[in-house]
Amino acid sequence: MTRETWATRIGFILAAVGSAVGLGNIWRFPWVTAENGGSAFLVVYLGIVLLVGVPGLLAEFVIGRRSNRSPAGALRSLSGSDAWGAWGLFYVGTAVALLSFYSVVGGWILRYFVESGLALAGTEPAYFASPGQYFGGVAAGFDAVGFHVLFLALTGIIVFAGVRRGIELGTKVMMPAVLVLLVALAGWAATQSGAAEAYAFYLRFDLSVIRQNFFGVLGPAAGQALFTLSLGAGTMVTYASYVGEDRSLAFDGTTIAVLNTLVGVLAGLVVFPLLFSLGISPGETGTGAGALFVGLAGAFSQLPGGTLIATAFFAVVALAALSSSISILEIPVAFLVDEYDVERRTAVAGVGALVVVTGSVCALDQSIFGFVAGTLVDVLLTAGLTAFLVFVGWVMGRDALEEFRAGAGEVATALSTPWLFAAGALLPVFLVFTLLTTFG
Ligand code: PFF
Ligand code: NA
Repeated sequence: MTRETWATRIGFILAAVGSAVGLGNIWRFPWVTAENGGSAFLVVYLGIVLLVGVPGLLAEFVIGRRSNRSPAGALRSLSGSDAWGAWGLFYVGTAVALLSFYSVVGGWILRYFVESGLALAGTEPAYFASPGQYFGGVAAGFDAVGFHVLFLALTGIIVFAGVRRGIELGTKVMMPAVLVLLVALAGWAATQSGAAEAYAFYLRFDLSVIRQNFFGVLGPAAGQALFTLSLGAGTMVTYASYVGEDRSLAFDGTTIAVLNTLVGVLAGLVVFPLLFSLGISPGETGTGAGALFVGLAGAFSQLPGGTLIATAFFAVVALAALSSSISILEIPVAFLVDEYDVERRTAVAGVGALVVVTGSVCALDQSIFGFVAGTLVDVLLTAGLTAFLVFVGWVMGRDALEEFRAGAGEVATALSTPWLFAAGALLPVFLVFTLLTTFG
């Protein structure tokens, strides 16, 4: 069977934006930003997105488009080395780890969405009365496992439908919906009483945090930059492997990074006014996995039309999460399809069954969940991206330059040599350094 390609250029861009925009933007970004000095952190984070994220994204794109293979096959075929091929298995493992916690949080969101949607008929969502207790129930036991499996099933259906009819069509519908709803919610949030205070908190320019503790901010900023751009897992290698024609990878990559950042900022403009309208300061609710749910559920319950706002909000988060989870599932699925000629449906079923189990473990054990969602993912993504960069710089070399330049404009072409140098030398050193600061 011939390998699928994206039907359109915009299809590829939207799929990649769909992967990038997710829980990282709506759930993680506002909090990490607020905790680390607001917009001063934003400056460091944006710097890393631009100087590490975009070049890293282009490294993954170059590997994928050059090889037309998912990570394991790509590294083997481009290097001719079985050792690199074996390292490719690392990305399959990363994907399983990522999906195991991502699908659990996706399940929580689905649960809130369903609860809010049903309440639109006139009742109050159950979480209005006691947000904390409700979240406790959502995040534990059978409920957590059940909705995790449901979210995973939705992910599986889209991936099963294939690159064009599943991922491309799905993200073409989901991403515009996410953007429109988020802009509407931000506009509405601006009219809330706490808005001015919230913006001041979120966008305050507090350089002192960075001046006091630059190295402390570096780790979270780098981790957030990689996670939010879906880097280091091989998603972007896999998506670029379906690009059929030569067009500017640099342009596409920059577009994707800009849109992803925009959604992160927009999400903050929704989340913080909501919390402040209720007089909750983000510091009070804490930053644990449930903070967003507990805090927002409380805010929604106090607002006129809160049920409707809640439904729209959880729809946004659910769609953003789904368009990311499909990109994670596609990594091991493409691996099985490319390397072992497994049928797509069998691959989806097999990987799905595995993640039903590993995700259930995360759903039921808080400390395992915390470890996987935090340290493990940060380390896997950083190591994974470092390997891609080294591969581009030291194994592909000239081929990488040629691939980078194919379809590129003047500016990108002029930047191609510095890019390769950064990929092979500066960025790996920087990433290993941030890993070291994470471990003290
Ligand atoms: N970028 C996604 C987010 O911000 O939620 C998370 C993610 C997706 C990370 C895919 C890694 C990945 F391969
Ligand atoms: Na993101």
